[in-house]
Formats: sequence, C-alpha cells, structure tokens
Amino acid sequence: MTGANVIITGANSGIGRAAARAFAAAGASVVLAVRDSAKGEAAAATMPGRTEVRRLDLADLSSVREFAAAWHGQLALLINNAGVMVPPLTRTADGFELQFATNHLGHFALTNLLLEHVSGRVVTVSSAAHRYGRIDFDDLNWERKPYKAWRAYGQSKLANLLFTAELQRRLTAVGSDVLATAAHPGYASTNLQFHSGRRISDLLGAIGNRLLAQSEEGGALPTIYAAVADIPGNSFAGPGGFMEQRGAPKLVGRAAAAADMDTARRLWDVSEELTGVRFPLLEPAVA
Ligand SMILES: NC(=O)c1ccc[n+]([C@@H]2O[C@H](COP(=O)([O-])OP(=O)(O)OC[C@H]3O[C@@H](n4cnc5c(N)ncnc54)[C@H](OP(=O)(O)O)[C@@H]3O)[C@@H](O)[C@H]2O)c1
Repeated sequence: MTGANVIITGANSGIGRAAARAFAAAGASVVLAVRDSAKGEAAAATMPGRTEVRRLDLADLSSVREFAAAWHGQLALLINNAGVMVPPLTRTADGFELQFATNHLGHFALTNLLLEHVSGRVVTVSSAAHRYGRIDFDDLNWERKPYKAWRAYGQSKLANLLFTAELQRRLTAVGSDVLATAAHPGYASTNLQFHSGRRISDLLGAIGNRLLAQSEEGGALPTIYAAVADIPGNSFAGPGGFMEQRGAPKLVGRAAAAADMDTARRLWDVSEELTGVRFPLLEPAVA
C-alpha cells in the first residue's frame, strides 16, 4: 500500500486503531481522524510507518466540514469506523440523537464531502446489531417516542448498511470505479462497551470482553478485508467463525431490511436534508 492515503475515523482505539496500524505497516500514509488529538497521538506513537493525527468530531457537522475542507489530494481509502454504542439519550450540537449522528449522519456527510478525492473504496463499519434495527422515518432522532438505547444503536448500524448500498448504486450510476463496502467485527474487546453510563453494564461488558471477545486485531480483519480483498461493491465482510463473532473474515449475509433499496434511497434523501450535504458526483455528459 506504499503511497496510498488512508483516512480512518476513530483510529485511536479498538478495531480502528488495529486497522490503522495494519495499513501503516503495509506502507500506507494513514490519517487518524479522532475527536481527541492527545489520544490520537498516543495511538499513532504505537504504529510503524507514516501516520498523521487530525481532529474530527463526527457528532458535530461543523467539525466534519472543517476536516473535509482541509483535505487535498488523492484518497485511496476512507474507513468510516468510529462509533458509539448505547449511551444515555444525548443530543448533539446539531440537535440529533448521538448514535444516529455519530454512527450514520457524521459519516454520511464526511463521505460525500470527501468523495471527489476517493480513488479506491469507502468502507463503513456496521454491526451484527443491524439485525434488530429499524429505520423509523417518523422519528429518526428519538424525539417523539421513549429512547431505547439498543434500538437506536441498531437503527444507526442498519443505516450504515443502507448507506453503503445506496452509495454503491450511485457510484455505479455515474460510472465511477470507486467501491462502497461494509464490514462488521463480530465481537471484539474494545472500549465500545463502556458508554452506557451504568456501572452494571460496564461490568458485564468487561466480563464479556474478557471471556468471549476476540482481540481488536481480530476484529479489524473484516475491515481490512472489505478494504483490500477482491470483492464487488456493496459487499459485507464479517468474521467467518463461530456465529460470525470471531475468526478469519469472509463475505456474510445481511438482514432483508439492509437490502431494501427503497428504504436506502429514502434514508439517503433524508440524510441529505438533515446534513445539508449532497452526493457530489454527476453523471458524465454525453458527448
Ligand atoms: N467491538 C465490537 O464488538 C463491535 C461490534 C460490532 C460493531 N462494532 C463497531 O466497530 C466500530 C469501532 O468500535 P470499537 O469496537 O473499536 O470501539 P472503540 O474502541 O470505542 O472505538 C470507537 C472509536 O470511535 C471514536 N468516536 C466515538 N465518537 C466519536 C465522534 N463523535 N467523533 C470521532 N470519533 C468518535 C472513539 O473515540 P474516543 O476514544 O475519543 O471515544 C474511538 O476512537 C464502531 O462503529 C462499532 O459500532 C464494534
């Protein structure tokens, strides 16, 4: 990957950090896009090769715009990895529910703002939890119904797959060679399990991580596979072992809801409205 520019969101921790280290070891120039620069620098210090830390808060659209505006030149890989899982109900500066904002809307805006630079792939990290998600177009941001943290996480991770499907459809329609792919890590021992704000959940998370989870390096393998393996657009990679929770990566299935192109198009349109960011590529003019 010598000479390839790679951006990874949330690369200071967990599977993003492991993927960033692997790409840097393979010769890529890796940008760690993180909300806490000190944490980013600490992670970069553990990596070989060429790394750079840049600030990006996906839960703040002004930060996303600032990050994208500062990017110049080619981008081989954009890895939409950062995520937050089951926090207490939180609203972002833009007024969105935190999980939908961070996991989906921030990456939606980032991708479309950077897309003209991308030469290779956009990889978005989803989760097996997409299976219990539902896109509630009447209340995407949990303003009218009682907040259910796990349902909100599932909605955001289903949105990741619908986003990938619609992005690939649009790329194909404009004749682009860029691929949109997705991955999920199974169950990996990271910091993801410690945002609930409840001590008992954190304790259960710590026990589960210790006894059941694979390492962050194992959890990064589907991301790396989705980024470099010879696979078609809109592929979904996950662990090939026990119940898709661990093991070597392979292409995996998805819930029917994640392949519903009507929902994918509608979610795209709503995401454009909410973020004010549009798909930037136009169909080539007929000569
Ligand atoms: N671990 C698993 O078993 C598992 C399973 C399924 C899917 N996933 C997915 O894998 C991805 C990576 O998670 P992980 O397990 O590696 O968890 P992690 O160790 O908690 O890493 C998450 C990363 O996202 C960053 N992040 C959170 N909010 C952000 C924001 N507003 N702006 C920028 N960065 C932000 C975090 O930054 P801070 O360090 O500053 O918080 C951290 O770097 C997520 O999309 C998650 O949904 C993980």
